[in-house]
Amino acid sequence: MTTLNELYQEIILDHYRQPRGRGELEPPKITQEGFNPSCGDEVILDLRARDGRIEDIRFRGRGCSISQASASMLTEAMQGKTLDEARALIQQVLALVKGEAEGDLDTLGDIAALAGVRHFPVRVKCATLAWHALDEALEQLG
Ligand code: FES
Repeated sequence: MTTLNELYQEIILDHYRQPRGRGELEPPKITQEGFNPSCGDEVILDLRARDGRIEDIRFRGRGCSISQASASMLTEAMQGKTLDEARALIQQVLALVKGEAEGDLDTLGDIAALAGVRHFPVRVKCATLAWHALDEALEQLG
């Protein structure tokens, strides 16, 4: 029988091996880098917003499976979101990986797989790298 943790690992590996939203956008765009100095891993987000919505979002970078899978999940989840929805989802994910999330994880789809890192404090930075970068990108939009 597949345990929940194994299922979570499969989802993370699937996003790592077949990343969604990998690539670069043509201008106009906002670019924001997320960098983890302790390991050198990076995620670079390209984002284009129009009329208060994320019109397109892509990522590139290199690093551990959790950081890259998390960026893949982010780009998949953020397509078409309003900026307010995007900010709310960022907070929800940051709470999730710290083990502070409440309520139904089903609404998060694949992102729920990141909940597993709450047992591994050193991996929290991996899982949140792209999400902090998006938070900073949204600040550039005001
Ligand atoms: Fe560097 Fe995961 S080990 S971000």
